[in-house]
Amino acid sequence: MIEHDVVIVGGGLAGSRAALEIVRTNPRLSVAVVAKTHPIRSHSVAAQGGIAATLKNVDDADHWEAHAFDTVKGSDYLADQDAVEILTREAPDVVIDLEHMGVLFSRLPDGRIAQRAFGGHSHRRTCYAADKTGHAILHELISNLMRHGVTIYDEWYVMRLILEEGQAKGLVMFRILDSQVEVVRAKAIMFATGGYGRVFNTTSNDYASTGDGLAMTAVAGLPLEDMEFVQFHPTGLYPVGVLISEAVRGEGAYLINSEGDRFMANYAPSRMELAPRDITSRAITREIRAGRGAHTDGSAGGPFVYLDLRHMGQEKIMSRVPFCWEEAHRLVGIDAVHEPIPIRPTVHYSMGGIPTDTDGRVRSGADGFVEGFFAAGEAACVSVHGANRLGSNSLLECVVYGRRTGAAIARYVESRKLPEVNEQHYIAQAQQQIQTLLDQPGDYRIDRVRQAFQDCMTEHCGVFRTEAVMRAGLEKLQQLQQQAQRIYLDDKQSLWNTEIIEALELQSVMIVGELILTGALQRQESRGAHYREDYPDRNDEQFLKHTLSYYSSAGIDIRYRPVSITLFQPQERRY
Ligand code: FUM
Repeated sequence: MIEHDVVIVGGGLAGSRAALEIVRTNPRLSVAVVAKTHPIRSHSVAAQGGIAATLKNVDDADHWEAHAFDTVKGSDYLADQDAVEILTREAPDVVIDLEHMGVLFSRLPDGRIAQRAFGGHSHRRTCYAADKTGHAILHELISNLMRHGVTIYDEWYVMRLILEEGQAKGLVMFRILDSQVEVVRAKAIMFATGGYGRVFNTTSNDYASTGDGLAMTAVAGLPLEDMEFVQFHPTGLYPVGVLISEAVRGEGAYLINSEGDRFMANYAPSRMELAPRDITSRAITREIRAGRGAHTDGSAGGPFVYLDLRHMGQEKIMSRVPFCWEEAHRLVGIDAVHEPIPIRPTVHYSMGGIPTDTDGRVRSGADGFVEGFFAAGEAACVSVHGANRLGSNSLLECVVYGRRTGAAIARYVESRKLPEVNEQHYIAQAQQQIQTLLDQPGDYRIDRVRQAFQDCMTEHCGVFRTEAVMRAGLEKLQQLQQQAQRIYLDDKQSLWNTEIIEALELQSVMIVGELILTGALQRQESRGAHYREDYPDRNDEQFLKHTLSYYSSAGIDIRYRPVSITLFQPQERRY
């Protein structure tokens, strides 16, 4: 059996920052990162616009309290304010620490880190590396892990969290190269497995964002928090859905409809294009519904609106957002210096996730924690984003809470022994699961079921939601779950059998989808990214609380947990 003091699942920003903190704190600890891709291909690498911190390099009046207020207001008052205070107070320090590691931030003429405007932030506080910020940070972190001797299991798929007697004891993992199954035991397990964009048919997320960590946690009988809050990024490139960074609007681009109007004046007059994402995504969807979207031939009534950079000029576009220019050029043949970019909302981020405290300890319910189990980053719900995240707060969350969780783990394992684990039992079960997939005759191809499921989620749980539409979606989902039991695999080999991974991921996305739909049905109000046309108002009296969803094959049980309100009383949210 493989053994480490600590095993972290996920090699993105949160996981790698935690691993680095552990080995910095105690170099004698044996730390491993398990990732289903190579860590530098984790989805954090695709983060574009930046990381928020009140460095005050371009705006002296900025302060952590302003950052905290913007974050809480942006969250529609569902964020836990004690966690937001930590996030915003520690932000400058973690960014300077990244700078000291060698991260190549963009600079002001005087050499300090440059900062730009971002949606929902009242000051220019987003630090960036052109529009490749995630790339710049992740590469530096991973090279630090290598330097510190962290073991990396890349291209291993984790099949199961071993949870016994309220304690996380290890993992069952599958090597994609040759289908070998192994058990690893550890004193502490951390999940930093990222988001689940692939639950939907249009997303800015990579193919690996299938919510595996969330599904494994749910199947282990633990709750997930606030799963109904799905962020739609306003500017997904039409029709592919990849991200055109908010940085483009931060640098001055306009949103215009097919009539050439800057329609945000009707939805968020004081913030215009830099309103928070929930409001901007709804505004775009309303414009499209009202017939003011465009078709590719330029005529009205189509499925997208435009992001217009033309007035910014070539020099600014190419120096500040070169990657966004390249994406539009390469993927849809648009030269953004001369033509507006077609965009529409795309699924981008999960506000909900594995519930944790501010040390990354995973909650077993409204009170209490799971021994030896930690989480951070997008997979976790600490909850600093509440019902709607502000752009450039997610890289920040990964680094602040990755670091805190790493420090907490280093303290935790000091007094712990490796747990007893029945290796043969878990290996036999996993091998049986794989063999059943390979042997079953099946009636359905994986890609057909997955596509039908993603279409169902997009149609029935999108930017606008109603009870009738979501109930119909749940019914469809149940039929698709039955089809997913009867899939067949063409590839029966053990070498590099990615079809096995696709089959396992299909189970993950379906579990996550059911949790999202069920949470959304139960929340009979509109708050942040969760907009119910049948309940268009926020209802603090009944729903100023976090949802805790417990999954079982017999159904989903919904309970609640209070919100921590320590700094700002809820107010009406206007921009
Ligand atoms: O638009 C963006 O660059 C995305 C940033 C974020 O999600 O924080």
